[in-house]
Amino acid sequence: MVEHIKQALSQGILTLTIARADKKNALTNDMYGALADALTQAEKDDAIRVVLIQADGDMFTAGNDLAEFAEQSAGNGPEELQVVRFVRALANATVTIVAAVNGKAVGIGTTMLLHCDHVLLADDAQLITPFVNLALVPEAASSYLLPLTIGHVKAFEMFALGDPVDAATAVSWGVANRVVPAATLREEAQHVAERFASKPVGSLTAMKRLMRDAARITDQVNSERFIFRKRLKSAEAKEAFAAFADKRKPDFTKISG
Ligand code: COA
Repeated sequence: MVEHIKQALSQGILTLTIARADKKNALTNDMYGALADALTQAEKDDAIRVVLIQADGDMFTAGNDLAEFAEQSAGNGPEELQVVRFVRALANATVTIVAAVNGKAVGIGTTMLLHCDHVLLADDAQLITPFVNLALVPEAASSYLLPLTIGHVKAFEMFALGDPVDAATAVSWGVANRVVPAATLREEAQHVAERFASKPVGSLTAMKRLMRDAARITDQVNSERFIFRKRLKSAEAKEAFAAFADKRKPDFTKISG
């Protein structure tokens, strides 16, 4: 069991809690591995009818661990990146996935929501996709799914400027279902997860398969991955990661791409 991903199965609901609050729930290779394993298990295990993803601490997640990005940028990353397994598992999931988002959801914290079937946002939630600020490109098929959901110009702005999108706006754009008070987020998410878990599961999974083009989504994941890996090693990305580590603003003006 990976320390920073808590798992609990009750009443057909597998609850996955991101629990690395001291690092703002930044996701490491091991954490992605645990999430990928859990989603893979959910596809096979009849006892799991719904997956609920939530987070401890004051935010959903600060996204990928930037120290690990810096390692990968320097060519010292792990052989097999578990984020790839996690994203493929999300893309191909047929189990119903509910997300309960508190505070900031950065990077993959937002893009994973595009694979969830019911998204509840606490009133303090903010969606942030700073891929260009990090000199990267969007991932998790978000370069396809976000424009599809909210339209090109809004998606372009989110990706390119990386400004936070507040909860009410995210709901009005169709990225999430509802805004709820932060204090009742978990209760409300549990309630809706129980409602899904009470439905005929064969029907739910068949419906989800029909509603999502998993092959198209996986194709996009593969295209993004190819470019993302090249961007990770770029001089621009190295400057972005160094700036985060040094707690300063990056300066891209002297780098030619
Ligand atoms: N990777 C690794 N560590 C991270 C992290 C990340 N993505 N985000 C935050 N942390 C760490 C900080 O380094 C800090 O560690 P320290 O206490 O050892 O110095 C700790 O978490 C607290 O972060 P801090 O920046 O002080 O919290 P904050 O509330 O002021 O700001 C964020 C929170 C999320 C706005 C800010 O941390 C941030 O911008 N993080 C990077 C987000 C990002 O670009 N993610 C990648 C997306 S693809």
